[in-house]
This record gives sequence, C-alpha cells and structure tokens, in this order.
Amino acid sequence: MAKLPIWIDCDPGVDDAAALLLAHWQEETEIVGISTVSGNAYVDQTTENALKLCDLMGASYPVYRGAEKPLFREYHDGAEFHGKNGFGGAELPEPSRAAERLPAWDGLYEAAKRYEGSLELVTLGPLTNIAIALGKHPDLKEKLHRIVMMGGSATRGNRTPSAEYNIYADPEAAQAVFRSGIQIVMCGLEVTEQAQLTPEEIDAVGEKDTPVTRFFHTAVQDILKKDMERGRVGWCVHDACPIAYLAHPELFSAKEAGVFVETQAELTLGKTVTDLYSDKKFGIKNALVVLEVNRPAFAQLLTTAVTHI
Ligand code: RIB
Ligand code: CA
Repeated sequence: MAKLPIWIDCDPGVDDAAALLLAHWQEETEIVGISTVSGNAYVDQTTENALKLCDLMGASYPVYRGAEKPLFREYHDGAEFHGKNGFGGAELPEPSRAAERLPAWDGLYEAAKRYEGSLELVTLGPLTNIAIALGKHPDLKEKLHRIVMMGGSATRGNRTPSAEYNIYADPEAAQAVFRSGIQIVMCGLEVTEQAQLTPEEIDAVGEKDTPVTRFFHTAVQDILKKDMERGRVGWCVHDACPIAYLAHPELFSAKEAGVFVETQAELTLGKTVTDLYSDKKFGIKNALVVLEVNRPAFAQLLTTAVTHI
C-alpha cells in the first residue's frame, strides 16, 4: 500500500511528541512537513521542540513556525500539564538546524499543491494556522484530502466543562475549519481519553534504555501523574490517536455527524456541538466523530514505535 503523505500541525507538547514518534516509525505514513503553533507552549518553544524531536528521531522533516497567538483572543499556554519547556521538563540537545523560512500557512499550502489533493492534514493543537491558511489560500480546501484532528468532544471538556483545549484555545479558528467543507475526522475526548498507556506500559518502554525511550519515559512522568490524579488508569495519549487512525482505522469506531463550534457563549465557548445524540440534526454531516479505540492494540502500536526508533 502506498504511504499516506501527511502534514502534522502541532504544539509539542508531550503527547504531540508521542504522535510524531509514531508517525515517523509507522510505515503507513510519510511525514511531508511539520508546522508549529502556540498551544501547550509558546510557538518559539514548540518550534524548538519539533526540531529537537526530529534530531532525536534522526529525521530532517521541514519544520515551519506558525501563529504566536489565537486569531482574536489572548494566548494561554498549557504549562500546567506539559511543563515550561513543553516536554515535561525532559531535556534534549539544542536543535541542529533552524525552522524553514516560510510561515506554517504558506508551507502547508505549497505542500498541498505538490500533493494535488492527496495530502492528509493532521492537527494536534489549536487550529490557528489552518484558519490562516484557509483565509490566505481559499483553494487550499480543494487541495487537502482530509483533516484528521485531535480536538473537540461530543460530550465533555477538559479545558472547561464543555470545551476541549485545542478548540477552546482558538474557537474562531476551529469554526472556520469545521465550516470549510474539508472532510474532517475528529478524534475528540471520547476516544482520546480511552487511548491510555498504563504506568506499567510506560515503565516497560523505559527499560529499553535508548535515547528515545529515556526522553519518552522522563517526559511523560508529570502528565501521567496528573491524569491518574483525575482517576484514570494511565496517561491519555490524545495526539497519537489521529496518527494511529490513519494507519489502522480498524482499531477505531466512528460515526458521521454535523459538528460546529460555539464562539459566542460564555459557558460553552469552544464546545464542538455535534448532532450525534440529538433528534434535531444540523442537516449536514461534516465530520466523522471517532468514539472508540481498541486500547491494548493502540498501546502496543505506540510502545512498539517508541522502542524501535
Ligand atoms: O486536549 C488535549 C490536547 O491539548 C492535546 O493536543 C494536547 O497536546 C493539548 O494540546
Ligand atoms: Ca497537542
């Protein structure tokens, strides 16, 4: 089977790092480009982290720096979960190279033109770069195959009781993406909070004792603790879900739905309102909402990737 060309827009970020490691290792996907955005950490940090991770993987994927802040709102980081350096305090050597000259939105557009409609856009952070790209290059929506995102939720929130962080961080950008007409696969909290690695699985990775596993095992400790303090059996590897979905959709179940984003209200700001469980439908099915994952198989896939790079 031909490799799927993918572009990863991310805010590394501990689970973003897991997603990049998986995307690099699995043979079903080929990383064409990486773009970064302010999210878990400020964009200078997320860009540096993406470049450092490429060095760790022995890869030279082009990295494009993106938006410093949301379209209209103030930027709030995710240091509470990902630490000041975005990697849970885990350190990596200084990057061996700089980011590309083009900004994220132009780099993505050039790649989409090259791949003539086959490029899979994976989004793992706030959607600011994508909204800017769609606004500056209106024909981008015809040049992408799909957007496979970590974001949103049909039933809950993690940044507020009704909104997931990536959507909440820039709701206007997210709404522009959901209204774009591009086919969307939405890996929201329903599935990503199932996609956990247990402490035992994480420790087994650490026992391999390679540069990648040492980084991985160190980076996840703090966020693992926080996830377990919230009653989970392990660490929710949110961002690895879209990557695993691209290579192994058979591990997941999903339903088509209409999905749009609240951008005006106070209590529900950033909520991805879906008509999944409603008699009243939006009359459009603009997203495939992923709801379940085979967790043991997902964990096996991810731990195999991390221990074999
Ligand atoms: O809500 C989870 C998302 O927010 C993940 O992408 C994580 O990296 C953070 O950005
Ligand atoms: Ca992320």
